[in-house]
Amino acid sequence: MPFFSSSPDYILESLKNDGVAVSLIMDENIRKNLYYLSSIITSYPSLHSLPATSPLNKPYLTHITDLAPPVQLLSIALSPPLLELITSYFGFFPTLYNVEVWFSLPHKNSPLSTEFFHRDGDDKHLLKVYLPLSPIGPENGPFQYIRSSHRPKLFDKYRLPSRTTNESLPKHRTASLALNEDLANHPDCFTYLADLYSICIADTNGIHRGVPLQTGSRIQIVFTYTSQSPTSPLRQGLLNLFSKLSANSYTPPLPIS
Ligand SMILES: [Fe+2]
Repeated sequence: MPFFSSSPDYILESLKNDGVAVSLIMDENIRKNLYYLSSIITSYPSLHSLPATSPLNKPYLTHITDLAPPVQLLSIALSPPLLELITSYFGFFPTLYNVEVWFSLPHKNSPLSTEFFHRDGDDKHLLKVYLPLSPIGPENGPFQYIRSSHRPKLFDKYRLPSRTTNESLPKHRTASLALNEDLANHPDCFTYLADLYSICIADTNGIHRGVPLQTGSRIQIVFTYTSQSPTSPLRQGLLNLFSKLSANSYTPPLPIS
């Protein structure tokens, strides 16, 4: 059974040309791990009452990585076919920069923070992998990406005003409200509608955002890969994950039949 539903060469070409690629995970072990993670997190009793991680600038987002067993998360993040694909894109073996699980809810404000189109600034070599743990439709916050906006020669074409509406993300170059709407209606705007076992890989040096949720909730795993020299130090989330592993302070998962 292949790892992806599409050939790695096709995914790689999509990444190079568009900056974004989608496929399905076909590998049985990875699917079991995704199913297990989804089961644990979607049935967590207090999920909807957890406080937002950064309530002032991201009232819609709670980091729930601690709810997920690290073995399952890392088995997916470090799976050889995924690393081989990223190695082919970067031209060198990647560094796993961050592992996160996001839980997102609607909020009453106009768009905030990463709900504006922006470019990430973590590294010149940057890929994010999005794995939904429950269905993501148009109403519950899909990821959007402007195709080909990752290419340096197109940076000027899609030049975004810096810090126009969002002082909370100084490293990002965010879009104004009007530009946000223009980009959402741009013919090259790709919207990632997804379900469990879907995978989206994106070079987030290109222009992207999370659409503000209208209803429901969004649960997704996000892996970030960079070179060995990202612009920011190692993220705390990854250190927490390694701490749990080294301290064996997690509950071993039940076998899944
Ligand atoms: Fe981003």
